[in-house]
Amino acid sequence: MKLSKRLLSIIPHIQDEDSIIDVGCDHAYLDIYLAQHKNLKKIIAVDIMEGPLLIAKKNIKTNDLENVIKVVRSDGLEKLTKDINTVIITGLGGKTITNILKKDESRLININKIVIIPNNNFYETRKEITKLGYKIEYEELIDDKNIYLLIIFKKGNKRYSYKELFFGPFLLKEKNNLFKKYYLAEVTKIKEILTKLPKRYIIKHIRMRQKIRTIKQILK
Ligand SMILES: C[S@@+](CC[C@H](N)C(=O)[O-])C[C@H]1O[C@@H](n2cnc3c(N)ncnc32)[C@H](O)[C@@H]1O
Repeated sequence: MKLSKRLLSIIPHIQDEDSIIDVGCDHAYLDIYLAQHKNLKKIIAVDIMEGPLLIAKKNIKTNDLENVIKVVRSDGLEKLTKDINTVIITGLGGKTITNILKKDESRLININKIVIIPNNNFYETRKEITKLGYKIEYEELIDDKNIYLLIIFKKGNKRYSYKELFFGPFLLKEKNNLFKKYYLAEVTKIKEILTKLPKRYIIKHIRMRQKIRTIKQILK
């Protein structure tokens, strides 16, 4: 099975001793790849919608992995079992990801690793997940047609500055070319929004201009 560069970025961060739940599995490509390339204790692929689950089941059957990957209909973590230690959530908005985690916060007790690729809202996502008692272990920007962000959280507590939550503590230190490309594009996007945003939204204007200043300061 050929996996996208985006999902492939997760693979080195999953170890054989892990037992995973993939929330919003959709096609289950990631789970199939993991089943074929790792020797995980358990793989549960969940989705809230029946349609994606049917496709996931079909793909799993085609790859003869019905005894390896368990497919469950679940809203977020509501079907999470105690033997799972890793949560993977990719391809959803940052707010949806944090809502899924916060809604079932009490079930996170045995979860020592959270792997996410949020579509947006990176600042809020880092802020909310670190508030749940996780620290950022690894971050990577992935160039896969769009630029995606992979974040690995591990159980633990660490305080982060506003800039670390905004840009990512590791990405901020490195400031590689992809980082610069991503944030230059962000500035262009914000400027475009500003030209269309009516002047009466004063607070929004101020916040967005502040965001541009913060980004420009970091890119200097
Ligand atoms: C865009 S797909 C992402 C698929 C895959 N994870 C990826 O990154 O390629 C998002 C999937 O998440 C599912 N989803 C959305 N909210 C969910 C929730 N609360 N619980 C479980 N699945 C959810 C959707 O039904 C959809 O199949």
